[in-house]
Amino acid sequence: MEETVIHEFDFALINEYFVGLERQGPGSPEATMRALRFIDNLTSESKIADLGCGTGGQTMVLAQNTKGVITALDLFPGSIDKLNSTAGKLRLQDRVKGIVGSMDNLPFQHDEFDLIWSEGAIANIGFENGLKYWKGFLKKDGYIAVTYESWFTDERPAEIEKWWVDAVPEIAAMGHNISILQKAGFLPVAAFTLPESCWIDAYFIPQKARQEEFLKKYAGNKTVERFISYLRREAELYSKYKQYYGYVFYIGKKI
Ligand SMILES: C[S@@+](CC[C@H](N)C(=O)[O-])C[C@H]1O[C@@H](n2cnc3c(N)ncnc32)[C@H](O)[C@@H]1O
Repeated sequence: MEETVIHEFDFALINEYFVGLERQGPGSPEATMRALRFIDNLTSESKIADLGCGTGGQTMVLAQNTKGVITALDLFPGSIDKLNSTAGKLRLQDRVKGIVGSMDNLPFQHDEFDLIWSEGAIANIGFENGLKYWKGFLKKDGYIAVTYESWFTDERPAEIEKWWVDAVPEIAAMGHNISILQKAGFLPVAAFTLPESCWIDAYFIPQKARQEEFLKKYAGNKTVERFISYLRREAELYSKYKQYYGYVFYIGKKI
């Protein structure tokens, strides 16, 4: 049986589902802070961009652990509304601004940023393509920090290979991705894998209640049923094959 690929579901449906969750991809405050510790020279004058920010789970962690000004950008207006409202509740509205936009057509100046952050989103425009394009918006010696789906082994079972190649055609092993980072004009500063808790506790477990809620709201809707089956399969495959892949944080400094 042919499986549906995530991009084939309606953008509005995917986002309505994910806007009800704190995180839209694997990650955690600890992982964000660990990556942040590799970045030096940030001051209250620093300008930071968070691309594909979703509802801002990692944006708030960044804001609470840096002094700079953060512009967070996402394609989905519902996520940006939630992000701006959370920033207000946390009294971070003077330093955090969410804007609607596309990460492949950034409304920024060249050499504007000290740091470009992006968790779980660069695959939407391609790892290599995104690194090269975003580099133009970084100052010299500025940093990039992104999480990206990566293979942990040279070979893996066909079932999981197919799933990920369908979702992220460019998916590659960590070593290869580090060489892409270097070829794109960055000094590779660090690369570390996200622990299982970033997938299970922050991503799969919170989705369980959301899935029940969604199925109830859209009872009888076949597209929603297929979408929820897709997400449940993603979780099953992770528990079966997690030794073969995961997210890796790649941190680079613009040379
Ligand atoms: C897997 S989610 C990650 C969200 C958040 N960074 C997190 O880790 O919780 C990917 C995000 O990228 C956004 N996105 C997809 N394509 C985009 C584009 N071309 N420009 C900006 N955002 C995009 C989606 O709306 C979604 O919020």
